[in-house]
Amino acid sequence: MAEHPAYPVGLRLTGRRVVVLGGGQVAQRRLPALIAAGADVLLVSPEATPSVEAMADAGEITWQQRPYAQGDLADAWYALIATGDAEANTAASAEAERHRVWCVRSDDADRATAWTPATGHSEGVTVAVLTTDAKGRDPRHTAAIRDAVVEGLRDGTLVAPHHRTRTPGVALVGGGPGDPDLITVRGRRLLAEADVVITDHLGPRDLLAELSPSVEVIDAAKLPFGRFMAQEAINDALIEHARKGKSVVRLKGGDPFVYGRGMEEVQALAEAGIPCTVVPGISSSISVPGAAGIPVTHRGVAHEFTVVSGHIAPDDERSLVDWPSLAKLTGTLVILMGVSTIGKVAETLIAHGKSPDAPVALIQEGTTAGQRRVDATLATVAETVRTEDVKPPAVIVIGEVVKVGPTAPAPRK
Ligand SMILES: C[S@@+](CC[C@H](N)C(=O)[O-])C[C@H]1O[C@@H](n2cnc3c(N)ncnc32)[C@H](O)[C@@H]1O
Repeated sequence: MAEHPAYPVGLRLTGRRVVVLGGGQVAQRRLPALIAAGADVLLVSPEATPSVEAMADAGEITWQQRPYAQGDLADAWYALIATGDAEANTAASAEAERHRVWCVRSDDADRATAWTPATGHSEGVTVAVLTTDAKGRDPRHTAAIRDAVVEGLRDGTLVAPHHRTRTPGVALVGGGPGDPDLITVRGRRLLAEADVVITDHLGPRDLLAELSPSVEVIDAAKLPFGRFMAQEAINDALIEHARKGKSVVRLKGGDPFVYGRGMEEVQALAEAGIPCTVVPGISSSISVPGAAGIPVTHRGVAHEFTVVSGHIAPDDERSLVDWPSLAKLTGTLVILMGVSTIGKVAETLIAHGKSPDAPVALIQEGTTAGQRRVDATLATVAETVRTEDVKPPAVIVIGEVVKVGPTAPAPRK
């Protein structure tokens, strides 16, 4: 039987009886996929692992708590034979052969009439990897091939363009704080499939180097905007390329909706009737402090964190931030775009009751090779920014969490 390669096929099991003999580890591993395929699973086994038992309790499978008996496979379309009893396995296998039921055997692949491939999924595609013959079976190798293919599809390093379903339009992708590994799997895949990428100076710029030479990369900062505002020029470019039938990715630093003007772009696209997908990203407001060893919350230390834009100083009449109220909060303040205004911010917070000794950390170029952290207090931060020459982009964290680190004792509260 094993002289020829196995013939790969996808079984459509919805509502069809699948018999599983044995409720151990093999069943535990295989049952979720059978349940997901909609199979009507009958488990025959005197015992089951707690996870398998939970599937029976939840009504996902029917469990007959007894050993295998002749006739169990009569109504089966497919069987998984995985008892710990070699005699029962052989008898069940013979029954499967008589009834022409394809069957997998966990104890003897050579005698099985079907093999379970190593499977994985990526965006509507199932990748199934089978070994060619039973003698050369190396399940770890097939699993490794499956992993390589699925991972490559997910992170975009293996590019398989969609020909049927790809619709032109714009994907607004949050690229994360800068480290190319911190973009989402979906974001990376869309980037790999794009015809045009419109990018900013923030975010994972290293990813752009991986794009195929056929991809047009447009630096949003360099768009000529003539009579337009810069944002209108970006909206215009998105619309223009999408109307040409291109797949456009608008790549942004962090998350598109955290000081990213993402919704303005979504609105402009909606007005132009262009389909738009939003892919969230890891915001620098949480990840950059984290990368520098600062948790934005910590049990017993800070029960809230507030993210504030510092791009407008507190004494500027355009400011929408209620700084006096922020001074009264006991949790963590995270300030973005605040390097140039931190002196005025610190003064205002102190004037409204925040302790001048409140710890402050500034993290510049977080998660990139250039990351650096500079610590200060509210009283000293303006001077520290000058003497240490802290430059944007930087995230500023104010609060007791700055002093919490991997070696700090666990809080009691
Ligand atoms: C226009 S806001 C965009 C924020 C972005 N949408 C996000 O969710 O992270 C830009 C500010 O984010 C912060 N920022 C973004 N990436 C950073 C990084 N890698 N290191 C430090 N700060 C960063 C800086 O405060 C910077 O001035």
